[in-house]
Amino acid sequence: MRIFLTGGAGFVGGWIVKKLVADGHTVTVYDNFSSGLRDNISGYGDTVTIIEGDILDFELLKQSMAGHDVVSHQAAQLEITTAIEDPSIDVTQNIIGSLNTIRAAQANGIKKMVIASSGCIYGQVKNPPVKETDTARPNWEYGVSKLAVEKYCDIFADYDNMMIANLRYAIVYGENEWYGRVLTIFLKRALENKPLIIFGEGSAERDFVHVEDVAALNVKLLTEKNWTGNKRLNVSTGVATTVNQLAELVKEVVKEIDGKELEVIHEELAEGKESKYVEGRLRLPRELGVMHLDNSEAKAFTDWSDTVALKDGIRREYIWLKENHKRWHTLSY
Ligand SMILES: NC(=O)c1ccc[n+]([C@@H]2O[C@H](COP(=O)([O-])OP(=O)(O)OC[C@H]3O[C@@H](n4cnc5c(N)ncnc54)[C@H](O)[C@@H]3O)[C@@H](O)[C@H]2O)c1
Repeated sequence: MRIFLTGGAGFVGGWIVKKLVADGHTVTVYDNFSSGLRDNISGYGDTVTIIEGDILDFELLKQSMAGHDVVSHQAAQLEITTAIEDPSIDVTQNIIGSLNTIRAAQANGIKKMVIASSGCIYGQVKNPPVKETDTARPNWEYGVSKLAVEKYCDIFADYDNMMIANLRYAIVYGENEWYGRVLTIFLKRALENKPLIIFGEGSAERDFVHVEDVAALNVKLLTEKNWTGNKRLNVSTGVATTVNQLAELVKEVVKEIDGKELEVIHEELAEGKESKYVEGRLRLPRELGVMHLDNSEAKAFTDWSDTVALKDGIRREYIWLKENHKRWHTLSY
């Protein structure tokens, strides 16, 4: 199949490209390289065509999409703090950019799209793990932008006969990840022999899903499975891990690989304030108490299942980081 992929040079996009190529498909990556890297999609020869373009450039997007069978839409602005400071950036990048992508597919007669949504659409939840049918009430502007796209997709699916899947990713981690979130900060500090810093008690729960599993579900939906309407699926492990447990796993992995004993420090820090240990790192405002997504619908709908256990994934990412430490000089998000 010929797959058109926005944001294909990014972290998740690069893994989707890898899996599509391994499965014998051809791919066009459409990316403005605002955060994506050519290194993420190099070495594929003619199988992968790269177009440097912006999803806000509707005419180029529409022309570039001609001749493809399906569309995967991964491009987005995903920095929570950027959207808190100016939510109109998300409205433009995530809502208008996604509408452009859907309308370009429609103009080219492409019926099937798989779109990256986010577990952030649920906001603060009372009864985790959340299911797709639970109330979505985002606590961050970024989540509102993702939820708005899902609502538009209902209309395109219901009235224009499009087949769309909105994949609500939990916390995606793994090799090629950007430096900025809690696991990456732990791993970089571990490499530099510094104590791991936990903001507050460390009881917040997160659902970490390995990027290889996320890519596998995307590819299954793009190339194997058909359905009607706008399908929403949580993409997660269904396992909640506290930040304290995550730090323990990192300690175990680093001990096994390097023989080092890491110290853990709990830093009392108000939301929105910068850490005194991790330069440039703010404690996020309106932090989620729990991000824990039930993945039984994705498992029932396809023969997909998450396969990478968190400790194995951390081991893989730490080994990758040791070989690629130059990629992580500055905080990204
Ligand atoms: N990484 C996660 O944990 C996570 C969790 C939930 C949802 N998501 C969603 O998954 C998708 C991929 O995220 P990622 O982690 O790979 O991020 P990423 O920043 O690595 O990838 C985004 C890609 O989109 C490109 N891009 C951004 N704006 C663009 C524009 N206007 N036009 C063209 N290209 C543009 C970037 O250059 C980059 O290559 C996003 O939609 C994100 O919201 C990610």
